Amino acid sequence: MEMLTIAVPKGRPYSQTIQLLRQVGLAGSEVGDEESRALLINCPAQQARLIIARDSDVPTYVEYGAADLGIVGKNVLMEGEPKVYELLDLGYSACRFVLAAPSAADPKRLLDGSVARRVATKYPRMTEAYFRSKGIQVETIYLHGSIEVAPKVGLADMIVDITETGRTLVENNLKIVDDLWTSSMRLIANRASYRLKAERIGPAVQQLRELTARG
Ligand code: PRP
Repeated sequence: MEMLTIAVPKGRPYSQTIQLLRQVGLAGSEVGDEESRALLINCPAQQARLIIARDSDVPTYVEYGAADLGIVGKNVLMEGEPKVYELLDLGYSACRFVLAAPSAADPKRLLDGSVARRVATKYPRMTEAYFRSKGIQVETIYLHGSIEVAPKVGLADMIVDITETGRTLVENNLKIVDDLWTSSMRLIANRASYRLKAERIGPAVQQLRELTARG
């Protein structure tokens, strides 16, 4: 059996991702439910190894062939447009891209186009595309995280970010002004691996499809 290398994201989707991989025989007991500090985990019985990466780096490992498969949010794929195959919507970690502003702000005024407002985001390409489609000129401020604090401290007027439970928005006195897109976890494959390791990848995709269809 050929070895499969799979890039998985740290953080919120980690434990569900590991459970899913265990269920389809792509991860063994070497991989704990909680994130370990080991970032490359070998599972000899499964002939698999896992790369534990930042979510935004998962497509890079896959695109360059360092990983054959990857599991990552659609939000990351939309922003980066990596040259990989998107094989399956796994359904979990469902979230929404939203435009949000301080609760006390008047959204109409913020979006009237009279001044180029500042928008903080981890998703500059998607943010620019959104405002371009609306014909509104904004200044995009790129941050790596903790986006919700930016309006509070005067760094930005609004944010574009993903929200899952809505808690971070509420705790930072922000309200949703517009719903942009939805996202959930996707299975991606390196284009060459998809052909060269079809005998391993094909059945894995089939099993994952059946599992996620059952919910
Ligand atoms: C995401 C996002 C929000 C938060 C929203 O960040 O950027 O900050 O989750 O989730 P909620 O609606 O359930 O509160 P994440 O937790 O992935 O951390 P990060 O900022 O380090 O990327």
